[in-house]
Amino acid sequence: VSQMLIDSFGRLHTYLRISLTERCNLRCQYCMPAEGVDLTSKPQLLSQDEILRIAHLFTSSGVDKIRLTGGEPTVRKDVEDICLRLSNLKGLKTLAMTTNGLTLAKKLPRLKECGLTSLNISLDTLVPTKFEFLTRRKGHHKVLESIDAAIDLGYNPVKVNCVVMRGFNEDEICDFVELTREKPINIRFIEFMPFDGNVWNVKKLVPYSEMFDRVVRQYPSIKRLQDHPTETAKNFEIDGHQGAVSFITSMTEHFCAGCNRLRLLADGNLKVCLFGPSEVSLRDPLRRGADDHELREVIGAAVKRKKASHAGMFDIAKTANRPMIHIGG
Ligand code: GTP
Ligand code: 5AD
Ligand code: SF4
Repeated sequence: VSQMLIDSFGRLHTYLRISLTERCNLRCQYCMPAEGVDLTSKPQLLSQDEILRIAHLFTSSGVDKIRLTGGEPTVRKDVEDICLRLSNLKGLKTLAMTTNGLTLAKKLPRLKECGLTSLNISLDTLVPTKFEFLTRRKGHHKVLESIDAAIDLGYNPVKVNCVVMRGFNEDEICDFVELTREKPINIRFIEFMPFDGNVWNVKKLVPYSEMFDRVVRQYPSIKRLQDHPTETAKNFEIDGHQGAVSFITSMTEHFCAGCNRLRLLADGNLKVCLFGPSEVSLRDPLRRGADDHELREVIGAAVKRKKASHAGMFDIAKTANRPMIHIGG
């Protein structure tokens, strides 16, 4: 790994999240305000060639995992071509996507052919009317179909991301765990995080400890698995279940010490921390004709400015960041 990807705390950044678009076909309340967000004008967004040029800089420096995010990555028309070209980058081992699954079922066979190796699908409720309330759109059954399509195509595990919010879905936790009995699903319960425009409130946060209590009461055989130090999730297995259960505890037990993640936003900004407001444009020097060496200097300097960890949740909630829809998780 080149020096460019090592921060001042010795953390190696081998995982790049690329947001392909700021647009989405849902309107989740925890991600964006009802009125929507300002969208970057098309010419200011990275083109396919620009994404590839930047991604190549990263993979040739040691990044071996790329995750496509959004907005919703599948609404970008050239998502298949982007996958195909990224998957051919030397050194890339994992090409993943985080998607809401709304239109995934029909696109997935082609995406798999284009080299998509791993899938995380967001689903926060098993009740269609609650889905419509949260996402302000219809389509619950389509997400369930996409999860099954992913399993049928051999994705294993299929990770299902469930943001837990008090008064909304904490009563469904064990219903989600039940899905793991017969299916190779890794259900991941995520603590609700504050972002601009998502009206976060500590009362809506269901802490990991409480989620875990609910699960252990019904599934006493639950056992912690050994996690990789760079993982976002704490992983568990349950006797007799094909799938697994995880918790992403950003708010009550952050995992910044093992962070290996960088983010390239759709407008070409590099964001070194999910909760760090500091960003630097890679698009601007690239469009001014910067060569690889210059771009590497810009990236390296930003990585070196990365903080040891993010602030506490109340400070995060007060600090201007971006809406989640722009960051992609
Ligand atoms: P895997 O690569 O499959 O482990 O997925 P992931 O957890 O890296 O990515 P995903 O897009 O599925 O995100 C799941 C949850 O983890 C979302 O709520 C993200 O916002 C959160 N998450 C991802 N990366 C970070 C991070 O660097 N810091 C924090 N605090 N949360 C993160
Ligand atoms: N808190 C926690 N997770 C969130 N996600 C989106 N907004 C939030 C939030 N406020 C999740 C999505 C998706 C992943 C990229 O991040 O559900 O699975
Ligand atoms: Fe769209 Fe995902 Fe945000 Fe929901 S969480 S609005 S599905 S990008």
